[in-house]
Amino acid sequence: MISWERAVVLICLTLAFTASVSSAELVFPQHPAESSEGSHFSDNSLPQVCVVIRTYWAHAKPSGLRALIHSLQRQSFQRWEAVLLVLDGKPFDDLAHTVQDFEDDRIWTFAEWIGLQFAPHAEEGWAHGYHHQLYNLTDEAIRACPASTQWVVVTNGDNEYASTLFQTLLNTAPDEDLVALDFYSRYQRPTGAPCLRFALQEGYPPCKVNKMQWCHTDLGANILRWPRLVAEDHRFGGMSDKSGGLTAEHFDGLMMMNLMSSGWKARHVEGRCLFEHSPSPQRCARQGGAWDESQISPESPIGGECISQGQADALLASFSDHVEELNITLSTDGAINAFDKGLPGNQTTIRCLRRADAEAQQAGYMRFFGPYCTAEVDMEEFEAHLLAQNMDEVNDQRAAWAEQSLSSGAGSRGRARPSRPKEPPKPPPKGVKIDPSLRRRLPFRI
Ligand SMILES: *[C@@H]1O[C@H](CO)[C@@H](O)[C@H](O)[C@H]1NC(C)=O
Ligand SMILES: *[C@@H]1O[C@H](CO)[C@@H](O)[C@H](O)[C@H]1NC(C)=O
Ligand SMILES: *[C@@H]1O[C@H](CO)[C@@H](O)[C@H](O)[C@H]1NC(C)=O
Repeated sequence: MISWERAVVLICLTLAFTASVSSAELVFPQHPAESSEGSHFSDNSLPQVCVVIRTYWAHAKPSGLRALIHSLQRQSFQRWEAVLLVLDGKPFDDLAHTVQDFEDDRIWTFAEWIGLQFAPHAEEGWAHGYHHQLYNLTDEAIRACPASTQWVVVTNGDNEYASTLFQTLLNTAPDEDLVALDFYSRYQRPTGAPCLRFALQEGYPPCKVNKMQWCHTDLGANILRWPRLVAEDHRFGGMSDKSGGLTAEHFDGLMMMNLMSSGWKARHVEGRCLFEHSPSPQRCARQGGAWDESQISPESPIGGECISQGQADALLASFSDHVEELNITLSTDGAINAFDKGLPGNQTTIRCLRRADAEAQQAGYMRFFGPYCTAEVDMEEFEAHLLAQNMDEVNDQRAAWAEQSLSSGAGSRGRARPSRPKEPPKPPPKGVKIDPSLRRRLPFRI
């Protein structure tokens, strides 16, 4: 049975933390290179990359952790080390032999914290404190990277990278401390038309643009200068002080904003997609699946998911009045799937399901994500949509956004005018502070 409206509650509005670990339990292993044979990194003239991988049992499938590690082993620049960590309610039984199978001593496990108190999911949505604790453990893993590390990338165990990823680090300027990658994402153009928002189109970026700010980035899409990160003691887990009440699953975007407002200079690798945030329609296409946006509630559009062809057939048959199918030529620059045989170069098609009332569905996306999360290329459409709405509602929204931009330090925009302002509302906060009123609209993980 497929439920028409899936209730998806991803957010825990309280930060009350229940499953705490006393500091006495925090025993971390020693970095193997420091304990025995010496570091893999010997040539000091080349940068060294540490990849911190957060993984758990569900990544045991071939398209999970193995795919990620393969994507590291395919790097054209090979000076990397992978530090794995697990925090979960269930053990990752395959982890030890997955790591062993690679016979690559650059890959090692920093910590496996298993216990019911570490379970990520509660009855409804995320368990209280799960993400915060995971970020705290991540902060420790970052500090377990070899002392010679120059760059660190923190990622989840089912993501993937283009083989040229680390090569982009070779020509960074000395004052560039953050390398930001555009990336494949189910949140690509989140307020665009369902399904079509992923389509290859002239004038649209091939993947999600990394703006190094909340709602426009992802943990794994940023490579950070490790010595500076550690010296300045930036901690993902410490973002709660600056989150305006946003829960810990948003700390990645908040961290990038925090670094930018601390004077970090970024290099944005634009127009190429060197990172794949899983699940994405592009990866789904490579795996022969269909992309489903039809089951997403307009009130809580969390991005869509990859389903099998059979599931897509069943959905279409069962809900023929409500679901429609489009065949989409996906945008892709070919960088990540270039190693897969039999793929048609830079583009690939996918069956995509959406609601038959796609316009209403899109209006729901716009309401949910708001102007802050809208991609630049979609701002005009967003504004047109606003003007078509009831003006009272528009004015209420603008008042809320103006409020928000004031309280976030964006400054002199002033309060909402009573009628028809010309400019589309753009309240990007300058610092890290996010107004708590945003919370309501963003119960998703990016
Ligand atoms: C995470 O670490 C911070 C300090 O950096 C601490 O205040 C917080 O309580 C910790 N949270 C969890 C859930 O472990
Ligand atoms: C999409 O492609 C599939 C298989 O290639 C085909 O069966 C289907 O009819 C197409 N759907 C549309 C709406 O064109
Ligand atoms: C794929 O895209 C990249 C960058 O956009 C381009 O350099 C390359 O030539 C393209 N490859 C093919 C097979 O079209």
